[in-house]
Amino acid sequence: MAVVTPTAWIRARLSRGWSLSSLGPNEARLLFDAGASAAGLVAALLFLELFVPDSTSLRRSLPLLGAPIVFIAWNVLAGLYTRLRIAAWQRKAAVLLGTVAATSLTCLLLGAPVSGVVLWGLIVAAPVVLARAFVALPFTRHGSLVTTLVAHRHGPVVVLGGAGYIGWHTIDLLLQHGYDVRVLDRLMYGREPIAEFMRHPRFELIEGDVTEITKLTSAARNASAVIHLAGLVGDPACAVDPDFTRHTNIVATRMAKEVAQSLGVYRFVFASSCSVYGVSDVEVDELSALNPMSLYAQTKIDGERELLHAVRDDFFVTVLRFATVFGHSRRPRFDLVANLFTAQAMTEGCINVNGAQQWRPFVHVRDVARAIVHVIEAPAAVVQSQVYNVGDRRMNMTIGQLGELVASVVREFRDPVTVTVRDQAADERRNYLVCFEKIRRQLGFEAETGLADGIREMARRFADGSYQHYRDEVYSNVATTVRAVEHFHDPLESQRLYAPRRVG
Ligand SMILES: NC(=O)c1ccc[n+]([C@@H]2O[C@H](COP(=O)([O-])OP(=O)(O)OC[C@H]3O[C@@H](n4cnc5c(N)ncnc54)[C@H](O)[C@@H]3O)[C@@H](O)[C@H]2O)c1
Repeated sequence: MAVVTPTAWIRARLSRGWSLSSLGPNEARLLFDAGASAAGLVAALLFLELFVPDSTSLRRSLPLLGAPIVFIAWNVLAGLYTRLRIAAWQRKAAVLLGTVAATSLTCLLLGAPVSGVVLWGLIVAAPVVLARAFVALPFTRHGSLVTTLVAHRHGPVVVLGGAGYIGWHTIDLLLQHGYDVRVLDRLMYGREPIAEFMRHPRFELIEGDVTEITKLTSAARNASAVIHLAGLVGDPACAVDPDFTRHTNIVATRMAKEVAQSLGVYRFVFASSCSVYGVSDVEVDELSALNPMSLYAQTKIDGERELLHAVRDDFFVTVLRFATVFGHSRRPRFDLVANLFTAQAMTEGCINVNGAQQWRPFVHVRDVARAIVHVIEAPAAVVQSQVYNVGDRRMNMTIGQLGELVASVVREFRDPVTVTVRDQAADERRNYLVCFEKIRRQLGFEAETGLADGIREMARRFADGSYQHYRDEVYSNVATTVRAVEHFHDPLESQRLYAPRRVG
């Protein structure tokens, strides 16, 4: 579990404001215990005043006045707000009875009147124990009261890396569903892909890197969820500079997690990839062994672990392992195999197939956005700590089959289209057949757009001139990464990112 320093916690606490809805479950617990023990103290003193003559003289009552503070101190020492925060309610109840007894004993040793101490203990024990039992009761069929309350917070949904290929569709769908959307993106592919959202009243852009702590904090403030799409994508881009890749894909994820937790953003959805399965001869599901064949896949696994280890009762993490995505987006990608084949067929009339026998799972980019929104809208207790493969069993196919399918669709637009099969590239060893049953069963998710329809939509875009040449640098992840790496190694740039800034 992450350790948050007291100063960082106080700073984060101050920035969240003081409305009741800004309280995290742990803060609510602490406040409740302090309130119950203070109220118990007042009730005990009143009782003694009214019914036990002379028992509440100021001098005799002084040790009892410290009971609320001593009680919280014992709770803290017992780990009630730290390691026991997600323990079963019965265990918390037992610990609370112990800390009430310890507080009573402490007050007695300090000279408080026995009658006052016993009364205080009896009055305080009941609400603090019953409150734990009450919030643990199944409130809906999906989870306890505390889970339900936490999961229904309002506030913008933050999309880290929202100006990218998947980000465009995610923003579009979130806005359609009525969410306020806040994007933090360093705009590696420019502002143009999200230009049309800029005037939307529920859209906000923060231009910057996820590792720019002040921007990340501004992005996460009052948010209800974080969707983390930012990162270097694909094996070639991640191979450009391993340090930069780890920084962008692992360090950024860790920082996003820390900030989300510190600011009380309870839902976190992480974009991972089915490439974590690497090579497998049998169908893989979410429980299968991971077999990363590249730094990209390894950083996705590291990101997943970072987040899944951080799960708490007030921090709901869901990992989505996307199949190979295809289809049109305002930030087009032509390094993805189905898109690349469509581009080759439409531009050159010839598809070059490498590794025709390799199995790959596919999913349309709009369906990826649908899966993300499904998770955001699912009961928090259902998706807590869950890993889902995102795709559809109907779209597992070999690269050779894909080449033939693209050729047949593109022939509706131009003829002839030829398919040339080459030997498998030595550096491309991924081969996997993926099971998507879990997301279908638990969240009712099935893809809506098939391969042929998605390819046809792209072919139409080629035909009407929506794209520049598919090999243009503007689309290249590798060229963009090379430029970003120059900034990364530039000391002035680092200073800009990390040097403390004067405010005002
Ligand atoms: N497209 C796929 O086939 C696919 C498959 C599996 C997983 N994924 C995952 O989905 C996510 C999104 O993929 P995509 O295809 O939309 O990629 P993309 O490259 O189109 O978009 C990534 C966006 O993140 C931004 N970005 C990158 N690093 C950043 C940082 N440090 N700070 C702020 N912004 C940053 C970029 O500017 C870009 O707008 C990635 O995490 C990727 O690994 C994608």
